[in-house]
Amino acid sequence: MKPIKVAIAGAGSGYTPGMLLTLLNSKEINVEEIRLYDNDSERNQDMEVIINFILEKGNYDVKMVRTEDPEVAFKGIDFVFSQIRAGQMKMRELDEKIPLKYGLVGQETCGLGGFAYGLRSMKGFLELVSYIEKYAPDAWILNYTNPESIVSESVRRAYPNMKIVNACDMTIGIEEIVSKSFGYDRSNWIVDYYGLNHFGWYKSIYDTEAGKDIMPDIIEKIINEGLDTEGYEESWKVTYENMTKLAKNFPTNIPNNYLEYYLYPNMMVEQSDINYTRANTIMDSRLKKIKETVKQIKENPNLESIDYQSDSHGQYIVDIATSILYNKNDRFMLIVPNRGAIPNVRFDATVEVPCHVNAKGVEPIRLGYNIPDFHKGLMEAQVAAEKLLVDAHFENSYQKALEAFTLNQTVPNADVAKKVLDEMIEANGDYWVELK
Ligand code: G6P
Ligand code: MN
Repeated sequence: MKPIKVAIAGAGSGYTPGMLLTLLNSKEINVEEIRLYDNDSERNQDMEVIINFILEKGNYDVKMVRTEDPEVAFKGIDFVFSQIRAGQMKMRELDEKIPLKYGLVGQETCGLGGFAYGLRSMKGFLELVSYIEKYAPDAWILNYTNPESIVSESVRRAYPNMKIVNACDMTIGIEEIVSKSFGYDRSNWIVDYYGLNHFGWYKSIYDTEAGKDIMPDIIEKIINEGLDTEGYEESWKVTYENMTKLAKNFPTNIPNNYLEYYLYPNMMVEQSDINYTRANTIMDSRLKKIKETVKQIKENPNLESIDYQSDSHGQYIVDIATSILYNKNDRFMLIVPNRGAIPNVRFDATVEVPCHVNAKGVEPIRLGYNIPDFHKGLMEAQVAAEKLLVDAHFENSYQKALEAFTLNQTVPNADVAKKVLDEMIEANGDYWVELK
């Protein structure tokens, strides 16, 4: 096994320990060096303490470098796993709370919160890619930086030749809860799905054991029994409970759960608490946990273990890396330029469809059929809105940003779009390019 060097961009994230544990425990990947890179040095140093502990306790023979210098982070690297969050949870909180003030959906990747984050993320991520292009032009970037459609569209325009795989774990999350709820083994599944990121539908779930498409059975079960949300955090419970309503009203396909924000924006506003949003929950849980773990490690030299395990999110990323390294042609749901994969959706859309991954990169699987008008109509409006937002970034265009905000499917009129945009410009300051 060829030893590889992996950099984690946005290493301060609470996802890093779980992801690295999955990587370190992989039997198929031989990691010789891990580089933790984050532009927030305090968070990066905290993570260094945690990862050092993991490496020592597990007796892993891996070199670790912690750095805030992109040259040190990326020179000679084989893979960059990116999970940066421009503006961190403080700005996520505003993405969620500003739209809610106006009675609109307040969410990190959907609605106007997602667009505000999109403008921050494009700026931050394109800067990151410029470093990787400079110091490691042949490296593979495995990207799960949100909002993914917007970020990957911007990279495609600015760095068309970079080796990047854009992946989201939401379909895995849905398949996990569905299989757990109804007693299926999802390793037997071949799944067909189409849409945009956080905006798509299952077309079929072929079960190789049953020898047939079991999606109709699953839809019936979601409607009649509901998903089993035991063990999930409160806000995910609500999300997965809402799936029953989506399945009842639109029983032709299993939807991506994020469609709740576009189909039922009012209900989502009602289910939100403007004084305590998801960002608050995470600041009070995931981020606190990092600080507490660091404290435990520093104060207790005899500490035996900490509360981090490898997880399915990490597994997904590691599986993609493995498929590239060993030319395995495994199948993943990825975010790619459409180019005919969904025949009746515009050619230049950024879509999410099943793809094969091999040593050459990502090969989207053509659907070979037209999608229904309902899905196509929703998608085309969203694609146009996302494209306008990316235009706004590259052209420094206030006008395009206003058009994007107005076209967003969670927004009822241009007056409120403008109000939110103007407040977001103030709140985001230098995190956004200047809009003129
Ligand atoms: C899913 C989505 C990610 C998103 C995450 C939010 O995994 O696919 O794109 O970032 O949920 O989770 P959080 O716990 O941060 O609300
Ligand atoms: Mn996602």
